Amino acid sequence: MHFESKERYRDGNFVSFLLTKYFAFAMIKMVIKMIVNMVEMLNAAKKGSYAIPHFNINNLEWAKYILEEMETLKRPVILGVSEGAAKYMGGFLVVAQMVKALVTSLHLTIPVCLHVDHGSSYAVCKEAIDAGFSSVMIDASRHPLDENIAITKEVVQYAHAKGVSVEAEVGHIGGKEDNVNGACLNATLEDATSLYQATGIDAIAPALGSVHGLYQGEPNLDFSLMEQMKEALPIPLVLHGGTGIDDEKITKAITCGISKININTELQIVWSQQVRAFLEKNLEVYDPRKIIGSGEEAIKNRVREIVTLYEKNRK
Ligand code: 13P
Repeated sequence: MHFESKERYRDGNFVSFLLTKYFAFAMIKMVIKMIVNMVEMLNAAKKGSYAIPHFNINNLEWAKYILEEMETLKRPVILGVSEGAAKYMGGFLVVAQMVKALVTSLHLTIPVCLHVDHGSSYAVCKEAIDAGFSSVMIDASRHPLDENIAITKEVVQYAHAKGVSVEAEVGHIGGKEDNVNGACLNATLEDATSLYQATGIDAIAPALGSVHGLYQGEPNLDFSLMEQMKEALPIPLVLHGGTGIDDEKITKAITCGISKININTELQIVWSQQVRAFLEKNLEVYDPRKIIGSGEEAIKNRVREIVTLYEKNRK
């Protein structure tokens, strides 16, 4: 008798152990489901003639403001993290945990993709994937095409086995990012086709005249090559260097096949303008939450304008 009740007690414990495991697993699954790769959102954008914004993030506040605004708009979003930004925030693991926690704590219902921006090597992309990123860009564009293909292929094999999407660059997008300056070298249709066919990437970022950071003069985008790539390649095209391209050219680029547009500098500019004005007016303020937070509205307003612009001709 004594033995039986002990068994029952053990069974009860076992059942509650299983239930706890089940709920913990379901919770984890819920969070994981919210961090998605970018394939579905980009294919929908390609079909519907609009573009998904990729916003680079720099810190917790940046991620939070963008996510909150995109949730209000009920739109999918790609959060881009450069190697420099990841290092600044404490590494890919910190960023992945932070974004996943925000998705849960803010009760987000929108698809969120956490994407490495310009991963410079297989090792960097693998580290981010292992940390929980749902998408990576491998940028081996500084190498000759055959090496670019070999490195990209290795990343695709590792990433796809884990359901992670891959973007790659062809030609070389110039400009300034993470304090690295580079010259622009436009892509060719042949190289873009070879990169796609040899690797099976999910999205391609061909250098077509846009640059990172601020433009010296007018951006000179090759729309005709963009259109040829749209016809020749079945995967979505990505436009880097979204800052400083006027609305008309952005709309035209989307018509010519662009499905993802990367924005970094622009949000930094609007945020710092607002914070600078706040500090000039409030010389006695020292609370960092007030200082950083004074730029929240500027980021949210610009995010909203960008989404409206990228969906101007949405079908
Ligand atoms: P901008 O800084 O010009 O907006 O470019 C961002 C970018 O392309 C990130 O990959």
